[in-house]
Amino acid sequence: MDLSNRTVLIVGGTSGIGRELARRFAAAGSTVAVGGRSPKALTELADEGFGKITIDVTDSASVASARDAVLARYPELDTVVTMSGVMLLEDLRDPAHFEAAATTIDTNLLGTIRVVDAFTPHLIRRGGGTLITVTSGIAFLPFPPMPSYAASKAAVHAYSEALRAQLDGTGVGVVELVPPAVATAGQEKVNPHALPLDDFATEVMHLLSQDPTPHEILVKGVLMHRWAERDGTYDALVAQRSQALAMLPGRQG
Ligand SMILES: NC(=O)c1ccc[n+]([C@@H]2O[C@H](COP(=O)([O-])OP(=O)(O)OC[C@H]3O[C@@H](n4cnc5c(N)ncnc54)[C@H](OP(=O)(O)O)[C@@H]3O)[C@@H](O)[C@H]2O)c1
Repeated sequence: MDLSNRTVLIVGGTSGIGRELARRFAAAGSTVAVGGRSPKALTELADEGFGKITIDVTDSASVASARDAVLARYPELDTVVTMSGVMLLEDLRDPAHFEAAATTIDTNLLGTIRVVDAFTPHLIRRGGGTLITVTSGIAFLPFPPMPSYAASKAAVHAYSEALRAQLDGTGVGVVELVPPAVATAGQEKVNPHALPLDDFATEVMHLLSQDPTPHEILVKGVLMHRWAERDGTYDALVAQRSQALAMLPGRQG
C-alpha cells in the first residue's frame, strides 16, 4: 500500500495506537481524519490539522451521521481503520462481569461491524479501498483476565476473514492489524513487556507499505501469540498467562 496518498479515517483515533497511526499516515503524506467520542481529544487533533469526526461506535445513528459527515468532507475516502476498542478485566466467578462483557462485545465486535457496514458501500462504489480491522494477539492466545475481550477479538478476526472473501473482486481489501501488548491505555502499568508505541508504529507502517499489503499485519512481537497453536506452545503459554488472574480485584488478599 502506498501510504503517501491515501485518504484515511481512523475510527478510534483519539488516543493510543490510533492517534499514533494517524500521525504516521499524515507524516507519510496522506490526508487523515480521526473519529472518537472525546471532544477534548478531537479538538486537540483538529489543532494538529486532522479532520475530526464525533462518533460512538455503539450507536448506529451516531455511526450513520459520522459516515455522512466524513463522505461529505472526504468524497475520495479510500481507507477506514476500525480501531475503537475497550480492554476490560472480568472475573467470571462474579456474574456482575456481564456488564463488561456486553460493553466489550458492543464496542469491539458490533462497533467494528457497524463501521464496516457504514463505509463498505462507498468503497465498493469507488471501485477500491482498504478496510483495516484491529484484533489482538489475544485473539489467538487468550489472556484469561480479559475473556470477553479475547472473544471479541477472535470474532473480529473471523469476521475479517469472511469480509475479505465476500469483498473479493470489488477492489476493496481487508487488512487485519494484530497488535501485541503495546504501551498505551495503562498497558505499561500492568505489563512491563508492552512494546513502546513508537517502535510498534514504525513496524506497522513498514508492514503496511509492502506490496501487496499482507492480509495480517504481524509485528515480530506478536508472532508467538499468532502461531502458538501451530507451534505447540499454546497450552504452556495459556497456563503461564493464567497466573495473571491474580491481578483481578476479587482474587487479591
Ligand atoms: N494497547 C494494546 O496493548 C493493544 C493490544 C492489542 C490490541 N489493541 C487494540 O488496539 C485498539 C486501540 O487500543 P489502544 O491501546 O490505543 O487503546 P486506547 O488508547 O484506549 O484507544 C481506544 C480508542 O477507542 C476509542 N473508543 C472506545 N470506545 C469507543 C466508542 N464507543 N466509540 C468510538 N470510539 C471509541 C477511544 O476514543 P474515545 O474515548 O474518544 O471514544 C480511543 O480512541 C483497540 O481496539 C485495542 O483493543 C491494543
